Amino acid sequence: MGFPQIQFLNLLAILIIIVSSPSSLSATPPNFPIAKPNCTDRCGNLSIPYPFGTTPECYHNYSFFVNCNQTFNPPKVFFWNSSLEITDISRDGQLRILNFIAHDCYNQNGTRVSSNRPWIYFPRTVTVNNTANKFTVIGCDSYGFIFGRRLNRNYSTGCTSMCDAKDDLIEGSCTGLGCCQTSIPKQVWRVEFSLWSHRNYSNVWSFDSCGHAFLVEESAFRFSPENLTNLRNVEKLPMVVDWTIGNGTCEGAKRNASSYACKSVNSKCYKPDNGYGYRCSCLEGYQGNPYLIDGCQDVDECQDPRLNNCERHCVNTMGSFHCACPKGYHGDGIKDRQGCIRGGSLTAGLLAGFGLFLIMAISFWSYKILKKRRSKQQKQGFFKRNGGLLLQQQLSAHDGILDNMKVFTSKELERATDKFNESRILGRGGQGTVYKGMLTDGRIVAVKKSKRVNEAQVVEFINEVAILSQINHRNVVKLLGCCLETEVPLLVYEFIPNGTLCELIHDDTTGFLFSWDLRLRIAAEIANALAYLHYATSIPIYHRDMKSNNILLDEKYRAKLSDFGISRSVAIDQTHLTTKVKGTFGYFDPEYFQTGKFTEKSDVYSFGVVLVELLTGKKPISNSVTEEEEDEEQGLIMRFFMAMKENCLKTILDPRIVEQDAKEEHLAVANLAKRCLNLNGRKRPTMREVAMALESIRTSDNPLSLESKMQDLSYPETGTVESKMQDLSYSETDSFVLNRMETASSSWTLNND
Ligand SMILES: *[C@@H]1O[C@H](CO)[C@@H](O)[C@H](O)[C@H]1NC(C)=O
Ligand SMILES: *[C@@H]1O[C@H](CO)[C@@H](O)[C@H](O)[C@H]1NC(C)=O
Ligand SMILES: *[C@@H]1O[C@H](CO)[C@@H](O)[C@H](O)[C@H]1NC(C)=O
Ligand SMILES: *[C@@H]1O[C@H](CO)[C@@H](O)[C@H](O)[C@H]1NC(C)=O
Ligand SMILES: *[C@@H]1O[C@H](CO)[C@@H](O)[C@H](O)[C@H]1NC(C)=O
Ligand SMILES: *[C@@H]1O[C@H](CO)[C@@H](O)[C@H](O)[C@H]1NC(C)=O
Ligand SMILES: *[C@@H]1O[C@H](CO)[C@@H](O)[C@H](O)[C@H]1NC(C)=O
Ligand SMILES: *[C@@H]1O[C@H](CO)[C@@H](O)[C@H](O)[C@H]1NC(C)=O
Ligand SMILES: *[C@@H]1O[C@H](CO)[C@@H](O)[C@H](O)[C@H]1NC(C)=O
Ligand SMILES: *[C@@H]1O[C@H](CO)[C@@H](O)[C@H](O)[C@H]1NC(C)=O
Ligand SMILES: *[C@@H]1O[C@H](CO)[C@@H](O)[C@H](O)[C@H]1NC(C)=O
Ligand SMILES: *[C@@H]1O[C@H](CO)[C@@H](O)[C@H](O)[C@H]1NC(C)=O
Repeated sequence: MGFPQIQFLNLLAILIIIVSSPSSLSATPPNFPIAKPNCTDRCGNLSIPYPFGTTPECYHNYSFFVNCNQTFNPPKVFFWNSSLEITDISRDGQLRILNFIAHDCYNQNGTRVSSNRPWIYFPRTVTVNNTANKFTVIGCDSYGFIFGRRLNRNYSTGCTSMCDAKDDLIEGSCTGLGCCQTSIPKQVWRVEFSLWSHRNYSNVWSFDSCGHAFLVEESAFRFSPENLTNLRNVEKLPMVVDWTIGNGTCEGAKRNASSYACKSVNSKCYKPDNGYGYRCSCLEGYQGNPYLIDGCQDVDECQDPRLNNCERHCVNTMGSFHCACPKGYHGDGIKDRQGCIRGGSLTAGLLAGFGLFLIMAISFWSYKILKKRRSKQQKQGFFKRNGGLLLQQQLSAHDGILDNMKVFTSKELERATDKFNESRILGRGGQGTVYKGMLTDGRIVAVKKSKRVNEAQVVEFINEVAILSQINHRNVVKLLGCCLETEVPLLVYEFIPNGTLCELIHDDTTGFLFSWDLRLRIAAEIANALAYLHYATSIPIYHRDMKSNNILLDEKYRAKLSDFGISRSVAIDQTHLTTKVKGTFGYFDPEYFQTGKFTEKSDVYSFGVVLVELLTGKKPISNSVTEEEEDEEQGLIMRFFMAMKENCLKTILDPRIVEQDAKEEHLAVANLAKRCLNLNGRKRPTMREVAMALESIRTSDNPLSLESKMQDLSYPETGTVESKMQDLSYSETDSFVLNRMETASSSWTLNND
């Protein structure tokens, strides 16, 4: 569709080039008004610009009165009423006038036969140009004087011209042989001549014994020996005088707007060379008469090839111009510089490439649409694969229950996490990477980018998301929503700022005094949360990965249970789950390890480990290779049991809490932990009981009595499971554990994800 259009546009461009080429150079300069309206601006072929004029309405004042005498043919212009003829009036402040010559003639008897002594004077606004004119004396026995007034003083100067033979004379030389010349001072406004002879021409060879003196425009007079005789009948010779419009300074003149002579808008005032008065001129790029209102007009430089140096196009602007190049060219368009170079340029592209642009725009547009559609399809694909439809079903099925659950778009979360910027990473775990993000409403969130889920896991994943979204407990991290549009599902949690319990217990560098009271409070809070999960939700939920690492702490060190990645809900009639063994080594229930059956008591066991951790400040699995003590080899739980058995709990307690006077509480919690760690799951207390026990310990004055009342103290039999645990206890990494496990028992897989 674009092709006929392009051709048409190209044709148009070519036409424009042809039309706008400056082929017609015969541009006539425009006729600027040089005089006031209704005033004669010519006398013969001499133009008379304002401030000069022939009538009182037309001249500035009498100083600029010129008389146009029509009796001559062509008419002659005279200065004032005088016989001083003006041959040229220029607007830049000069007049060319014809000045009289002084003659002084003698006869052969040495008697002066004729002589004149002309004099002229000018108004104070006119001065004789001292550089353009020379006082000249011609003769073979003459000396001449020039004198008069400059400003308010007299001046005088002169020279002598002699000769004895005609062949002494030098053509064009006025250095005293037949012709002499001298300069005059500046600012001269009155001139008189006098001419004298030394010897009355008595001994002069010449027949015509005359001397001549005059002020002449130097360039208009060239001395020739003939002038000794042929000047006798010449009356006038040209002279240059300068005129100014006022006698003050520019600054002074500007102060009185009504008397200021530079009336035109685009005019300026300047001081002439002779330093007397001021003159006006048009600003650069304008021409005309600066003394007239609106006298200075823009010069159309483009009409005159002498005024512009454009190669092709000239564009006139007010006071200036610029060069342009035709379509299809680029460059500055200036003749002696770049000129116009054929080839693509912006301006060329604008018109000729407009069609192309259209095509590109259309294709870009359709590409965008296509891309958008594809990206949408891809998002929909991800959504489907990530179980989005299933979730939607869940959402509609559990009407109202999932109200606080939001399905985020990938765009929202990208914006929130600054495109999953590395700097936003809060932590990496087996479940995925957690990023800190900020939603558009200003909420700070933690975005967990899950590990890729395979198709088979989708159902479970969605189930989990749905379960977690139901949990509303102040000690459980809140799941705000998820995003399934991305390749890997994203989960959005509330952001918990103070790290994990694990860090709090084991990281000494923070300098935080982790008091016993706080430990007890956290333990109680977690116990409450677990009890809630086990009993208060519509379907019991087992956390299955209970450990200090999964307990987060908010700004007030309130515990928040997190990481429900492998949690399961169980149908009411089910008492346990039979799945692959999952969990973290060091925390999981040996019974579950043996049977593969996960019960609520498995969570209780793991919680017991956390209690021991809180009591001892030690990790259930030592990471330290340097600690080679016999005790360390046995694992924390074993050592805990030994200490309990030998009634020396103090040896194993965290030194940081031993000082704090709470021995009864220590012992009560230790006893509770022991019960939780019972190898027989059925003998362990329920999470509800544990929570109640911890609450009692916190509030009771005599916690020990309470605790002992509640239970039958039973020591675990150090049996087969414990020895098996020993094999595995000292591995440092999960993968190492996995390897060891696989060699130990191929029927179990330890999946830490
Ligand atoms: C110019 O002269 C004409 C006729 O002589 C007159 O009508 C007109 O008003 C004059 N204009 C000015 C500005 O004096
Ligand atoms: C003025 O007119 C005279 C005669 O008509 C002519 O010789 C002279 O060149 C003209 N001067 C100008 C400046 O046109
Ligand atoms: C013009 O010049 C002639 C001859 O010099 C003179 O007689 C006449 O008065 C002059 N006219 C004007 C108006 O000056
Ligand atoms: C100029 O001449 C006219 C008549 O020719 C005369 O009326 C006028 O006064 C003279 N002006 C001056 C300044 O001499
Ligand atoms: C010049 O002087 C001579 C005599 O000395 C005399 O004859 C002659 O008339 C004089 N010429 C003039 C013009 O006076
Ligand atoms: C200036 O010259 C005039 C005659 O041209 C004369 O009368 C006057 O006295 C002179 N003034 C001085 C100060 O020389
Ligand atoms: C020149 O002439 C004058 C009188 O005209 C006379 O007084 C003078 O002496 C003469 N000078 C010479 C050198 O002849
Ligand atoms: C001087 O003499 C030359 C040669 O004859 C002549 O052309 C020229 O016009 C003369 N100058 C003046 C001012 O008359
Ligand atoms: C004419 O005007 C100029 C400046 O505008 C001033 O200096 C001069 O004195 C005036 N001349 C007369 C005769 O008014
Ligand atoms: C300008 O001219 C006026 C009158 O023509 C005079 O009074 C004034 O002193 C002059 N100013 C200067 C600086 O020459
Ligand atoms: C300005 O100039 C006008 C006309 O030349 C004159 O009448 C007036 O007094 C001047 N004003 C000042 C402040 O010099
Ligand atoms: C004298 O005339 C020359 C050439 O026209 C010009 O450059 C110069 O500025 C003039 N001098 C004065 C004092 O105006």
